[in-house]
Amino acid sequence: MDKPLIDIRDLWIRFPGVHRSIDAVRGISLTIGREKVGIVGESGSGKSLTGRAILKLAPNSARITARRMDFDGIDLLAAPERKMRAIRGNRISMILQDPKFSLNPLMRIGNQIMEAYRLHHRVSIAEAKRRALAMLEAVHIRDPERVFMQLPHEVSGGMGQRIMIAMMLIPEPDLIIADEPTSALDVTVRRQVLSILDELVTRRGTGLMFISHDLNLVADFCDRVLVMYAGRIMEDMPARELHNAQHPYTRALLNSLPRLDHPVEELRVPSRDPAWLHEKVIERRENV
Ligand SMILES: Nc1ncnc2c1ncn2[C@@H]1O[C@H](COP(=O)(O)OP(=O)(O)OP(=O)(O)O)[C@@H](O)[C@H]1O
Ligand SMILES: [Mg+2]
Repeated sequence: MDKPLIDIRDLWIRFPGVHRSIDAVRGISLTIGREKVGIVGESGSGKSLTGRAILKLAPNSARITARRMDFDGIDLLAAPERKMRAIRGNRISMILQDPKFSLNPLMRIGNQIMEAYRLHHRVSIAEAKRRALAMLEAVHIRDPERVFMQLPHEVSGGMGQRIMIAMMLIPEPDLIIADEPTSALDVTVRRQVLSILDELVTRRGTGLMFISHDLNLVADFCDRVLVMYAGRIMEDMPARELHNAQHPYTRALLNSLPRLDHPVEELRVPSRDPAWLHEKVIERRENV
């Protein structure tokens, strides 16, 4: 693999408390290249915090330490806020779950996309507008001129999510961190939005960190999957191997998914073994 975009060694995220501290992320190491890496794991396992730590957007109360946290050779831990502002939204973009919280409700969609571009690129308004319209077309919005003039509440959820993707892609970032970007959408629209994201990141060779609860989705959509449990990475494997996962936790997550072709009477809840917290990561790489 080429030099990875993200190189993290031994990342810890701790919330100090008066009586007891919480270690939300407990010594994880990972790399992300120009590939689609899925991060799965149950609620509270530390997926979002890991994504936010990369952009240094974790809550103020979080204590973040690592032996290394590099983005494209830049030491993020040492980077001052000024440098982080230049990285955020320009070289690394983050797509969040719900566009309602990320789009400005009072500003026309076109202006928001143009602003996302002009924040980091010195171009004329006419040029920014041309690019914003092209980007709306790239995310398969049929009538870009009309949507350009609309306000966020005037578009559907699926369209809002596509607009978010347009906004995040227009600065041509090297890495996108997508935190449950489609969980607010219904199943058919979800696949549609993902295939657009896929088309654009694959064409540009953008790295993607795709955080999701949905193991099936990740197995189809990503190249590689990291399985998190209680702040640790339990397993790291090619996505298409997910259904042959070895770790009992990953197996339990897979078994607890409802399946249309095998209706179950009762959904199983994964059982846990305290010994998992001290195990080594199961790593499987492609033999290429
Ligand atoms: N501001 C905070 N103060 C204290 N603890 C926090 C705070 N934010 C997160 N945590 C802790 O960090 C853990 C991991 O949070 P994180 O948001 O990364 O989970 P997640 O894997 O993204 O879960 P979900 O799937 O529900 O989004 C939580 O279980 C919680 O204990
Ligand atoms: Mg989360």
